[in-house]
Formats: sequence, structure tokens, C-alpha cells
Amino acid sequence: MPYFEKEENLDPKTLDLERASKSLREELEAIDYYQERIENAKDEGLKKILAHNRDEEKEHAAMLVEWLRKNDPVFDQKFKEHD
Ligand SMILES: [Fe+2]
Repeated sequence: MPYFEKEENLDPKTLDLERASKSLREELEAIDYYQERIENAKDEGLKKILAHNRDEEKEHAAMLVEWLRKNDPVFDQKFKEHD
């Protein structure tokens, strides 16, 4: 996984936080892909499968947000401020 700085100079916690944020971006991107495919698919059965998968990606994204909240106090505070 490429980093902006030398990996050996980074704290292990920083690396895990970055793994979580990159994973969150990938989950959000997957939601967008599924949504576009749902809107373009012609078969209703396929649309249902894709919608199910899209919603699972939303669950994955929520799990990562919760992990970030638990492991980054500033993130947690900002979510509380905007709840
Ligand atoms: Fe996922």
C-alpha cells in the first residue's frame, strides 16, 4: 500500500487509520458503482441482487465509520457535533 511518507517512519496506529479510511473510500465507491448498475440493468432480478449488494456495502461503510470514531477522538467529536 503506497504512503506519502516512508512507511517505516509511520506509527502503526496511523497505518491502521489509513487502512480504515482507504477501505471506507472503496466502500463508498462500490456503492456508487452498484447504484449506476441498478439504474442501467434491464432484468428486475439482477436489479434486486445489485440493490442487496449495494446495501451491504453501506453496512460495510457504516462499520468503518464506527471504527474510525472509536479510534480517532477528533473524528468522534466531529460526528457528535453534527449529529
Ligand atoms: Fe464491502
